[in-house]
Amino acid sequence: MNNKNKSCLTTIPVFIATFLIAFSTSVLAENKPEPIKVGVMLPFSGVYAGLGDSIRNGLKLALQEKGYKASGRLIQLVEVDTEAKPARASELTLGLVDNDKSDFVIGPVHSGVAMGMINTIRNKDSIMIIPNAGANAATGAFCQPNVFRTSFSSWQTAYPMGKEAANMGYKKIVTLSWNYGFGKESLAAFEESFVAAGGEVVKKILVPFPKTEFQPYLTQIASIKPDAVFVFFAGGGAVKFVKDYDTMGLKGKIPLLGSGFLTEGTTAAQGKAAEGLLTTLHYADTIDSSKNKKFRADYKAKFNKSADLFAVQGYDAGQLIIQAVEAVKGNIEDKAALIYQMELLEIDSPRGKFRFSKAHNPIQSIYLRKVVNGLNTVVKESVTNLEDPARGCKL
Ligand code: BEZ
Repeated sequence: MNNKNKSCLTTIPVFIATFLIAFSTSVLAENKPEPIKVGVMLPFSGVYAGLGDSIRNGLKLALQEKGYKASGRLIQLVEVDTEAKPARASELTLGLVDNDKSDFVIGPVHSGVAMGMINTIRNKDSIMIIPNAGANAATGAFCQPNVFRTSFSSWQTAYPMGKEAANMGYKKIVTLSWNYGFGKESLAAFEESFVAAGGEVVKKILVPFPKTEFQPYLTQIASIKPDAVFVFFAGGGAVKFVKDYDTMGLKGKIPLLGSGFLTEGTTAAQGKAAEGLLTTLHYADTIDSSKNKKFRADYKAKFNKSADLFAVQGYDAGQLIIQAVEAVKGNIEDKAALIYQMELLEIDSPRGKFRFSKAHNPIQSIYLRKVVNGLNTVVKESVTNLEDPARGCKL
Protein backbone atom coordinates (compact mmCIF):
# COMPACT_ATOMS: atom_id res chain seq x y z
CA MET A 1 0.00 0.00 0.00
CA ASN A 2 1.40 3.38 -0.93
CA ASN A 3 1.50 6.31 1.50
CA LYS A 4 -1.36 8.12 -0.19
CA ASN A 5 -3.75 5.16 0.35
CA LYS A 6 -2.65 4.75 4.02
CA SER A 7 -3.49 8.35 4.87
CA CYS A 8 -6.87 7.90 3.16
CA LEU A 9 -7.70 4.97 5.48
CA THR A 10 -6.87 6.97 8.65
CA THR A 11 -9.01 9.96 7.58
CA ILE A 12 -12.15 7.88 6.97
CA PRO A 13 -12.81 7.02 10.70
CA VAL A 14 -12.10 10.64 11.67
CA PHE A 15 -14.59 11.78 9.05
CA ILE A 16 -17.26 9.31 10.27
CA ALA A 17 -16.74 10.32 13.91
CA THR A 18 -17.03 14.01 13.02
CA PHE A 19 -20.19 13.29 11.04
CA LEU A 20 -21.72 11.33 13.95
CA ILE A 21 -20.95 14.08 16.47
CA ALA A 22 -22.42 16.74 14.17
CA PHE A 23 -25.48 14.57 13.52
CA SER A 24 -26.18 13.83 17.19
CA THR A 25 -25.67 17.48 18.17
CA SER A 26 -28.19 18.58 15.58
CA VAL A 27 -30.69 15.91 16.68
CA LEU A 28 -30.26 17.02 20.29
CA ALA A 29 -30.67 20.64 19.26
CA GLU A 30 -33.84 19.69 17.40
CA ASN A 31 -35.26 18.00 20.52
CA LYS A 32 -34.30 20.86 22.82
CA PRO A 33 -37.28 23.22 23.08
CA GLU A 34 -36.79 26.82 21.98
CA PRO A 35 -36.35 29.32 24.81
CA ILE A 36 -39.36 31.45 25.71
CA LYS A 37 -38.71 35.09 24.88
CA VAL A 38 -40.08 37.78 27.15
CA GLY A 39 -39.86 41.41 26.02
CA VAL A 40 -39.67 43.83 28.96
CA MET A 41 -40.85 47.33 28.06
CA LEU A 42 -40.46 49.63 31.07
CA PRO A 43 -39.23 53.12 31.96
CA PHE A 44 -35.61 52.84 33.10
CA SER A 45 -35.11 56.61 32.81
CA GLY A 46 -37.30 59.65 33.55
CA VAL A 47 -39.80 60.36 36.31
CA TYR A 48 -41.03 56.71 36.45
CA ALA A 49 -37.57 55.07 36.39
CA GLY A 50 -37.87 53.84 40.01
CA LEU A 51 -41.15 52.10 39.19
CA GLY A 52 -39.63 50.35 36.17
CA ASP A 53 -36.70 49.19 38.26
CA SER A 54 -38.96 47.70 40.96
CA ILE A 55 -41.11 45.88 38.39
CA ARG A 56 -38.03 44.38 36.73
CA ASN A 57 -36.64 43.30 40.11
CA GLY A 58 -39.92 41.62 41.06
CA LEU A 59 -40.05 39.84 37.71
CA LYS A 60 -36.49 38.57 38.12
CA LEU A 61 -37.24 37.32 41.62
CA ALA A 62 -40.19 35.23 40.36
CA LEU A 63 -38.18 33.79 37.45
CA GLN A 64 -35.16 33.07 39.62
CA GLU A 65 -37.33 31.05 42.03
CA LYS A 66 -37.90 28.66 39.10
CA GLY A 67 -34.36 28.81 37.71
CA TYR A 68 -35.57 30.88 34.72
CA LYS A 69 -37.38 27.78 33.40
CA ALA A 70 -40.97 26.65 32.91
CA SER A 71 -41.91 23.18 31.65
CA GLY A 72 -38.26 22.62 30.74
CA ARG A 73 -38.08 25.73 28.54
CA LEU A 74 -35.59 28.46 29.32
CA ILE A 75 -36.98 31.97 29.80
CA GLN A 76 -34.97 34.80 28.22
CA LEU A 77 -35.56 38.52 28.79
CA VAL A 78 -35.08 41.31 26.23
CA GLU A 79 -35.29 44.78 27.81
CA VAL A 80 -36.12 48.17 26.30
CA ASP A 81 -36.50 51.60 27.94
CA THR A 82 -39.83 53.37 27.20
CA GLU A 83 -38.69 56.55 29.02
CA ALA A 84 -42.46 56.78 29.83
CA LYS A 85 -42.95 58.37 26.39
CA PRO A 86 -46.20 57.35 24.63
CA ALA A 87 -44.77 58.44 21.25
CA ARG A 88 -42.23 55.57 21.38
CA ALA A 89 -44.72 52.82 22.29
CA SER A 90 -45.53 51.50 18.83
CA GLU A 91 -41.96 51.37 17.49
CA LEU A 92 -40.64 49.62 20.62
CA THR A 93 -43.50 47.10 20.68
CA LEU A 94 -42.97 46.22 17.01
CA GLY A 95 -39.26 45.70 17.71
CA LEU A 96 -39.99 43.24 20.52
CA VAL A 97 -42.77 41.43 18.69
CA ASP A 98 -41.59 41.30 15.07
CA ASN A 99 -37.78 41.47 15.36
CA ASP A 100 -37.14 39.74 18.69
CA LYS A 101 -40.11 37.33 18.32
CA SER A 102 -41.18 37.81 21.94
CA ASP A 103 -43.75 35.29 23.13
CA PHE A 104 -44.76 37.61 25.97
CA VAL A 105 -44.29 41.38 26.29
CA ILE A 106 -44.35 42.76 29.84
CA GLY A 107 -45.03 46.50 30.11
CA PRO A 108 -45.48 49.37 30.61
CA VAL A 109 -45.83 51.75 33.60
CA HIS A 110 -47.46 54.76 31.90
CA SER A 111 -51.07 54.53 30.67
CA GLY A 112 -50.36 56.48 27.47
CA VAL A 113 -47.61 54.00 26.57
CA ALA A 114 -50.01 51.13 27.34
CA MET A 115 -52.60 52.36 24.87
CA GLY A 116 -49.95 52.62 22.13
CA MET A 117 -48.75 49.09 22.91
CA ILE A 118 -52.28 47.65 22.85
CA ASN A 119 -53.00 49.19 19.46
CA THR A 120 -49.81 47.65 18.09
CA ILE A 121 -50.10 44.21 19.66
CA ARG A 122 -53.73 43.52 18.67
CA ASN A 123 -53.87 40.68 16.11
CA LYS A 124 -50.27 39.68 16.92
CA ASP A 125 -49.34 36.35 18.46
CA SER A 126 -47.50 37.79 21.48
CA ILE A 127 -49.24 38.04 24.84
CA MET A 128 -49.04 41.43 26.57
CA ILE A 129 -48.92 41.49 30.37
CA ILE A 130 -49.39 44.95 31.91
CA PRO A 131 -47.51 45.12 35.22
CA ASN A 132 -48.65 48.63 36.13
CA ALA A 133 -50.43 51.02 33.72
CA GLY A 134 -54.01 51.54 34.90
CA ALA A 135 -55.78 53.02 31.82
CA ASN A 136 -59.38 51.82 32.22
CA ALA A 137 -59.67 51.14 28.47
CA ALA A 138 -56.85 48.53 28.57
CA THR A 139 -59.31 46.11 30.17
CA GLY A 140 -62.37 48.11 29.14
CA ALA A 141 -63.26 49.43 25.68
CA PHE A 142 -59.89 48.30 24.20
CA CYS A 143 -59.74 44.88 25.91
CA GLN A 144 -58.11 42.15 23.79
CA PRO A 145 -57.84 38.37 24.16
CA ASN A 146 -54.03 38.64 24.24
CA VAL A 147 -53.83 41.44 26.85
CA PHE A 148 -53.71 40.64 30.59
CA ARG A 149 -53.02 42.91 33.55
CA THR A 150 -51.35 41.99 36.85
CA SER A 151 -51.83 45.48 38.25
CA PHE A 152 -55.10 47.47 38.46
CA SER A 153 -57.45 49.76 36.61
CA SER A 154 -57.41 53.49 37.42
CA TRP A 155 -60.96 53.09 38.68
CA GLN A 156 -60.04 50.32 41.15
CA THR A 157 -57.42 52.33 43.01
CA ALA A 158 -59.32 55.63 43.42
CA TYR A 159 -63.01 54.69 43.65
CA PRO A 160 -62.80 53.31 47.23
CA MET A 161 -61.20 56.52 48.55
CA GLY A 162 -64.26 58.65 47.62
CA LYS A 163 -66.39 56.66 50.03
CA GLU A 164 -63.66 56.61 52.70
CA ALA A 165 -63.31 60.42 52.44
CA ALA A 166 -67.06 60.87 52.89
CA ASN A 167 -66.95 58.48 55.90
CA MET A 168 -64.21 60.69 57.39
CA GLY A 169 -66.73 63.54 57.31
CA TYR A 170 -65.22 65.61 54.47
CA LYS A 171 -67.76 67.52 52.38
CA LYS A 172 -65.71 69.75 50.05
CA ILE A 173 -62.60 68.45 48.36
CA VAL A 174 -60.07 69.73 45.81
CA THR A 175 -58.68 67.07 43.43
CA LEU A 176 -55.33 67.35 41.65
CA SER A 177 -53.21 65.21 39.34
CA TRP A 178 -50.95 65.16 36.31
CA ASN A 179 -52.91 65.96 33.16
CA TYR A 180 -52.96 62.63 31.36
CA GLY A 181 -55.23 59.59 31.10
CA PHE A 182 -54.43 57.78 34.33
CA GLY A 183 -54.54 60.93 36.48
CA LYS A 184 -57.83 62.13 35.01
CA GLU A 185 -59.41 58.68 35.38
CA SER A 186 -58.27 58.50 39.02
CA LEU A 187 -59.88 61.84 39.82
CA ALA A 188 -63.09 60.80 38.02
CA ALA A 189 -63.30 57.49 39.95
CA PHE A 190 -62.74 59.30 43.26
CA GLU A 191 -65.42 61.86 42.37
CA GLU A 192 -67.88 59.12 41.34
CA SER A 193 -68.03 57.56 44.81
CA PHE A 194 -67.45 60.82 46.77
CA VAL A 195 -70.38 62.57 45.10
CA ALA A 196 -72.56 59.45 45.45
CA ALA A 197 -71.83 59.63 49.20
CA GLY A 198 -72.90 63.29 49.37
CA GLY A 199 -69.55 65.09 48.85
CA GLU A 200 -68.61 67.84 46.40
CA VAL A 201 -65.43 68.36 44.36
CA VAL A 202 -65.06 72.13 44.53
CA LYS A 203 -62.05 72.37 42.21
CA LYS A 204 -60.18 69.98 39.90
CA ILE A 205 -56.58 70.95 39.10
CA LEU A 206 -54.54 69.34 36.29
CA VAL A 207 -50.75 69.76 36.12
CA PRO A 208 -48.85 69.12 32.84
CA PHE A 209 -47.01 65.72 32.88
CA PRO A 210 -44.24 65.32 34.07
CA LYS A 211 -43.88 68.81 35.60
CA THR A 212 -43.18 69.01 39.32
CA GLU A 213 -43.43 72.76 39.98
CA PHE A 214 -46.35 72.53 42.37
CA GLN A 215 -46.14 75.84 44.32
CA PRO A 216 -48.73 77.83 42.27
CA TYR A 217 -51.30 75.02 42.67
CA LEU A 218 -50.63 74.71 46.38
CA THR A 219 -51.10 78.45 46.82
CA GLN A 220 -54.46 78.11 45.06
CA ILE A 221 -55.48 75.24 47.40
CA ALA A 222 -54.48 77.27 50.47
CA SER A 223 -56.81 80.05 49.39
CA ILE A 224 -59.74 77.69 48.63
CA LYS A 225 -59.42 76.03 52.09
CA PRO A 226 -61.23 72.73 51.25
CA ASP A 227 -61.92 70.07 53.89
CA ALA A 228 -59.30 67.81 52.23
CA VAL A 229 -57.32 67.27 49.01
CA PHE A 230 -57.25 64.09 46.88
CA VAL A 231 -54.34 63.59 44.45
CA PHE A 232 -52.66 61.22 42.04
CA PHE A 233 -48.89 61.53 41.66
CA ALA A 234 -46.31 58.76 41.51
CA GLY A 235 -42.54 58.22 41.52
CA GLY A 236 -40.39 61.38 41.58
CA GLY A 237 -43.51 63.58 41.25
CA ALA A 238 -45.06 62.05 44.38
CA VAL A 239 -41.86 62.66 46.37
CA LYS A 240 -41.78 66.32 45.34
CA PHE A 241 -45.51 66.90 45.89
CA VAL A 242 -45.62 65.45 49.40
CA LYS A 243 -42.54 67.43 50.43
CA ASP A 244 -43.86 70.68 48.93
CA TYR A 245 -47.24 70.15 50.64
CA ASP A 246 -45.45 69.90 53.97
CA THR A 247 -42.95 72.71 53.33
CA MET A 248 -45.74 75.12 52.37
CA GLY A 249 -47.43 74.42 55.70
CA LEU A 250 -50.52 72.69 54.28
CA LYS A 251 -49.98 69.29 55.87
CA GLY A 252 -51.13 70.25 59.36
CA LYS A 253 -54.08 72.24 58.02
CA ILE A 254 -55.72 70.45 55.07
CA PRO A 255 -55.67 66.61 55.13
CA LEU A 256 -54.02 65.09 52.06
CA LEU A 257 -55.51 61.86 50.63
CA GLY A 258 -54.36 59.90 47.61
CA SER A 259 -54.55 56.80 45.58
CA GLY A 260 -51.71 54.72 47.02
CA PHE A 261 -49.14 55.71 44.40
CA LEU A 262 -48.57 58.90 46.41
CA THR A 263 -46.65 56.95 49.03
CA GLU A 264 -45.65 53.80 47.14
CA GLY A 265 -41.89 53.25 46.95
CA THR A 266 -41.42 56.90 47.93
CA THR A 267 -41.61 57.14 51.71
CA ALA A 268 -37.85 56.88 52.27
CA ALA A 269 -37.35 59.99 50.12
CA GLN A 270 -40.42 61.79 51.51
CA GLY A 271 -39.34 61.27 55.14
CA LYS A 272 -41.50 62.86 57.83
CA ALA A 273 -43.62 64.67 55.22
CA ALA A 274 -45.28 61.33 54.37
CA GLU A 275 -46.03 60.27 57.96
CA GLY A 276 -49.75 59.81 58.63
CA LEU A 277 -50.90 60.12 55.00
CA LEU A 278 -53.94 58.00 54.11
CA THR A 279 -54.23 56.30 50.72
CA THR A 280 -56.07 53.40 49.06
CA LEU A 281 -54.36 50.65 47.07
CA HIS A 282 -54.40 46.90 46.39
CA TYR A 283 -51.25 46.36 48.44
CA ALA A 284 -49.77 47.42 51.78
CA ASP A 285 -46.33 46.68 53.21
CA THR A 286 -47.79 45.16 56.35
CA ILE A 287 -50.18 42.60 54.82
CA ASP A 288 -49.99 39.83 57.38
CA SER A 289 -49.50 36.71 55.26
CA SER A 290 -46.62 34.26 54.96
CA LYS A 291 -46.54 34.89 51.18
CA ASN A 292 -46.03 38.65 51.67
CA LYS A 293 -43.48 38.20 54.46
CA LYS A 294 -41.40 35.76 52.41
CA PHE A 295 -41.63 37.94 49.31
CA ARG A 296 -40.44 41.03 51.21
CA ALA A 297 -37.60 39.14 52.91
CA ASP A 298 -36.40 37.56 49.63
CA TYR A 299 -36.62 40.87 47.79
CA LYS A 300 -34.65 42.67 50.49
CA ALA A 301 -31.99 39.93 50.50
CA LYS A 302 -31.60 40.02 46.71
CA PHE A 303 -31.82 43.75 45.97
CA ASN A 304 -30.87 45.31 49.32
CA LYS A 305 -33.95 47.52 49.38
CA SER A 306 -37.58 47.23 50.45
CA ALA A 307 -40.21 45.79 48.13
CA ASP A 308 -43.14 47.93 47.02
CA LEU A 309 -46.32 47.44 45.00
CA PHE A 310 -44.49 47.82 41.70
CA ALA A 311 -42.20 44.94 42.64
CA VAL A 312 -45.29 42.87 43.55
CA GLN A 313 -46.85 43.51 40.14
CA GLY A 314 -43.62 42.52 38.35
CA TYR A 315 -43.34 39.41 40.52
CA ASP A 316 -46.91 38.45 39.64
CA ALA A 317 -46.23 38.97 35.92
CA GLY A 318 -43.38 36.45 36.32
CA GLN A 319 -45.61 34.05 38.27
CA LEU A 320 -48.30 34.39 35.59
CA ILE A 321 -45.89 33.45 32.80
CA ILE A 322 -44.54 30.43 34.68
CA GLN A 323 -47.98 29.14 35.66
CA ALA A 324 -49.34 29.71 32.13
CA VAL A 325 -46.45 27.87 30.45
CA GLU A 326 -46.78 24.99 32.90
CA ALA A 327 -50.56 24.83 32.36
CA VAL A 328 -50.02 24.17 28.61
CA LYS A 329 -47.01 21.89 29.32
CA GLY A 330 -44.67 24.21 27.47
CA ASN A 331 -46.71 24.27 24.26
CA ILE A 332 -47.14 28.05 24.18
CA GLU A 333 -47.31 28.05 20.39
CA ASP A 334 -51.03 27.17 20.67
CA LYS A 335 -52.06 30.70 21.65
CA ALA A 336 -55.78 30.00 22.04
CA ALA A 337 -55.04 27.20 24.55
CA LEU A 338 -52.51 29.42 26.34
CA ILE A 339 -54.98 32.30 26.71
CA TYR A 340 -57.71 29.90 27.84
CA GLN A 341 -55.43 28.54 30.58
CA MET A 342 -54.33 32.03 31.63
CA GLU A 343 -57.97 32.99 32.14
CA LEU A 344 -58.40 30.11 34.61
CA LEU A 345 -55.32 30.77 36.75
CA GLU A 346 -55.23 31.86 40.36
CA ILE A 347 -52.17 33.91 41.24
CA ASP A 348 -50.82 33.58 44.78
CA SER A 349 -49.68 37.20 45.09
CA PRO A 350 -48.07 38.97 48.06
CA ARG A 351 -51.16 41.24 47.88
CA GLY A 352 -53.43 38.18 48.40
CA LYS A 353 -54.65 35.55 45.93
CA PHE A 354 -56.42 36.87 42.84
CA ARG A 355 -58.11 35.69 39.64
CA PHE A 356 -58.74 37.56 36.41
CA SER A 357 -62.04 39.11 35.43
CA LYS A 358 -63.54 38.33 32.00
CA ALA A 359 -61.73 41.45 30.77
CA HIS A 360 -58.36 40.07 32.14
CA ASN A 361 -58.00 42.53 35.04
CA PRO A 362 -57.31 41.31 38.62
CA ILE A 363 -60.30 41.00 40.93
CA GLN A 364 -58.66 42.17 44.14
CA SER A 365 -59.15 43.71 47.56
CA ILE A 366 -58.33 47.38 48.15
CA TYR A 367 -56.75 48.47 51.43
CA LEU A 368 -57.02 51.76 53.29
CA ARG A 369 -53.41 52.44 54.35
CA LYS A 370 -51.61 54.91 56.62
CA VAL A 371 -47.92 55.77 56.53
CA VAL A 372 -46.41 54.81 59.90
CA ASN A 373 -42.63 54.95 60.34
CA GLY A 374 -42.18 54.94 56.56
CA LEU A 375 -44.37 51.85 56.03
CA ASN A 376 -47.70 51.76 54.19
CA THR A 377 -49.62 50.12 57.01
CA VAL A 378 -53.01 48.41 56.69
CA VAL A 379 -55.76 50.38 58.43
CA LYS A 380 -58.48 48.08 57.08
CA GLU A 381 -59.65 46.30 53.96
CA SER A 382 -61.68 49.04 52.30
CA VAL A 383 -63.34 46.82 49.63
CA THR A 384 -63.06 43.03 49.35
CA ASN A 385 -62.55 41.52 45.87
CA LEU A 386 -63.26 44.69 43.89
CA GLU A 387 -63.89 44.00 40.20
CA ASP A 388 -63.42 46.76 37.64
CA PRO A 389 -66.68 47.45 35.74
CA ALA A 390 -64.77 46.93 32.44
CA ARG A 391 -67.00 49.47 30.70
CA GLY A 392 -67.13 48.81 26.94
CA CYS A 393 -65.25 45.45 26.99
CA LYS A 394 -66.76 42.90 24.62
CA LEU A 395 -64.70 39.82 25.56
C1 BEZ B 1 -50.22 55.05 34.82
O1 BEZ B 1 -49.84 55.89 34.01
O2 BEZ B 1 -51.12 54.25 34.57
C2 BEZ B 1 -49.57 55.01 36.19
C3 BEZ B 1 -48.30 55.50 36.36
C4 BEZ B 1 -47.72 55.45 37.61
C5 BEZ B 1 -48.39 54.87 38.68
C6 BEZ B 1 -49.66 54.37 38.49
C7 BEZ B 1 -50.26 54.43 37.25
